[in-house]
Amino acid sequence: MDMSSSHYSQCEHDDEYKKDDQNDSDMLTALSKEKGWITEYLYQYKSFWFTPAAIKGVQKAQQRFEAQSIDILLATFPKSGTTWFKALIFSLMNRDRFDFSSHPLLTKGPHDCIPFLESIIQDETSYQDYRISCSPRCLLATHIPYSLLPASVMSSGSKIVYVFRETKDVLVSNWHYMKKLSVKDLPSFPIEDAFDLFCKGVSHYGPFWDHASDYWKASLENPDKVLFLTYENMKKDPIVCLTKLAKFLDKTFCLEEEREEVVQEIVKLCSFENLSSLEINQTGVQHFSPQFSVENRHFLRKGQVGDWRNHLTVERGEQLDEITRQKLCGLV
Ligand code: A3P
Repeated sequence: MDMSSSHYSQCEHDDEYKKDDQNDSDMLTALSKEKGWITEYLYQYKSFWFTPAAIKGVQKAQQRFEAQSIDILLATFPKSGTTWFKALIFSLMNRDRFDFSSHPLLTKGPHDCIPFLESIIQDETSYQDYRISCSPRCLLATHIPYSLLPASVMSSGSKIVYVFRETKDVLVSNWHYMKKLSVKDLPSFPIEDAFDLFCKGVSHYGPFWDHASDYWKASLENPDKVLFLTYENMKKDPIVCLTKLAKFLDKTFCLEEEREEVVQEIVKLCSFENLSSLEINQTGVQHFSPQFSVENRHFLRKGQVGDWRNHLTVERGEQLDEITRQKLCGLV
């Protein structure tokens, strides 16, 4: 269903979706639609743009998910570093359980370690099994915008970690990812088209700026509940960032762990260089649903800050910066 790391797919053509359920079809007909990135259309549902399958994921999460007070939700806009932060949070929270030499992340992809809420909630048995397996603290990820999160996330004591990534790199990363997933019978998708749609807010879970600003405001209003981190800061100073993340999640590193350089071990384990060199991330496949799978290697492309320069003109970069300045005034 979503995208980034998630859920739009070759099999999620609008026509197929319409066959599934007349009510869904009626709902789609009532929504505004725009040209999709790899599906025929994206639909505007409650101010954000989604594939039909992603709308279903949001609705199912709202209907079924009962957050518990100690749950942790990693929230991201697609292509903001979800895969990396899944690995980091999984290692951080489970550091008492696993040795670094035989760590699950050496043989399992980060998306196998922390599932997407909007994917796993669609299969009650998988969801319950997962909850039991990671009891007591359930780790989940989501691309759902803040205003559309299930009510229990807000009413429970669960914590949200939001990861923000620089706009131009997010656009370029999304474009690359979509090209990898694109369906052969859809016309080619030049970056200029992606740029125009992205600027209009039309991208999976977009507008990007609204997605980020809602979580950012929530983090300012409720800093014990929502932590706002950036991809770039984690790149620049992973030790400081990870230590802050550990404190927020009530898993502060103790003196002995500091002596044993546990933070450094986590940073090394989850680094782009290490994860992308592992066989599971080179040849493995992530099955998000029976209809939708993505090769793990598509989640680890370059992992750099500033790759946009290789794909966007300076003028287009400035245009995006200007929108970001206007919409995220105070954040950037
Ligand atoms: P690029 O396409 O710029 O390389 P997501 O996980 O939200 O789908 O985001 C994917 C982006 O995060 C890709 O960016 C990917 O390469 C990058 N990424 C994945 N793992 C990473 C890691 N361990 N360290 C840094 N960046 C990583």
